[in-house]
Amino acid sequence: MSRFRTDLTYDDVTPKEVFLNRRAVLRGAAAMSAASILPLQASARDFAGGETPNKLEDIKAYNNFYEFGTGKDDPAKHAGQLTTSPWSIKVDGMVDRPGTYSVSELIDADDIEERIYRFRCVEAWSMVIPWNGVELNKVLAKLGPQPGAKYVAFETLVRPSEMPGLRNNSIDWPYREGLRMDEAMHPLTMLATGIYGEPMPNQNGAPIRLVVPWKYGFKSIKSIVRISFTDQEPPTTWNMLQPREYGFYSNVNPEVDHPRWSQATERRIGDGLFARRRPTLMFNGYESEVASLYEGMDLTQFY
Ligand code: MTE
Repeated sequence: MSRFRTDLTYDDVTPKEVFLNRRAVLRGAAAMSAASILPLQASARDFAGGETPNKLEDIKAYNNFYEFGTGKDDPAKHAGQLTTSPWSIKVDGMVDRPGTYSVSELIDADDIEERIYRFRCVEAWSMVIPWNGVELNKVLAKLGPQPGAKYVAFETLVRPSEMPGLRNNSIDWPYREGLRMDEAMHPLTMLATGIYGEPMPNQNGAPIRLVVPWKYGFKSIKSIVRISFTDQEPPTTWNMLQPREYGFYSNVNPEVDHPRWSQATERRIGDGLFARRRPTLMFNGYESEVASLYEGMDLTQFY
């Protein structure tokens, strides 16, 4: 973790545009939307190599959340109706303190921090997102995984009255994801509850979602209602749908192409239509932090 800067000042982490918009508003020229003037917190830590975070409007407008439809704009159109309070999360399996928890029972407000991460979708687009949340390991430690637990599995809410996309029965709902225990305990793995200091927008997975920055975006499961501890590799949604295309690990890897497209480059959302694609980085740029988790594994086999 040492290569990350922890001494960032407000100006270091405030995208110029956001900063300028704030100034404009301060001068009384409040022409900008509220969303574009949100400052990043002074304490935000940059884990994205100094790259400028995407605008909140982009982060909220271009989404994958199949419970609300398959179009990139369906979550923004339909997720507003999702009731996110009250919210309960069932904890079960090989764990000392199973039960049903509210978000605030799982997360101490004091543990919440803001971290700017690269986010790489398997469809070869990417963003840079300032998440608010906690290290997953802090939550897991509270719950007490038993020594036999080798994996942690997550499930998303299934509520047909508020989630029109559930009518699509090509997916075996609930949306499921999972991590090996050492991946789950890694300090980069977060449970996120907000973006840009705002409560998590519904389309991004309110009230609580996973963020695993070195893996393709589909591992980052949204609107979590169940956390289970198990000694078996848990079934995961995209692997169940297309096992040859999506593995359990799903680490970002520019050298292992998806069977139908290259993973060597990516399109950054917010870059112009004619902007050059960016090279994808091994483990999405987090290689020095996470490569050791996969030592000795053939990453073409464990994709
Ligand atoms: N979680 C649920 N429950 N349902 C989904 O369809 N899509 C995944 C992931 N988490 C998805 C999900 C995929 S494919 C991606 S790329 C990311 O969410 C997108 O996160 P974002 O919309 O916040 O950028």
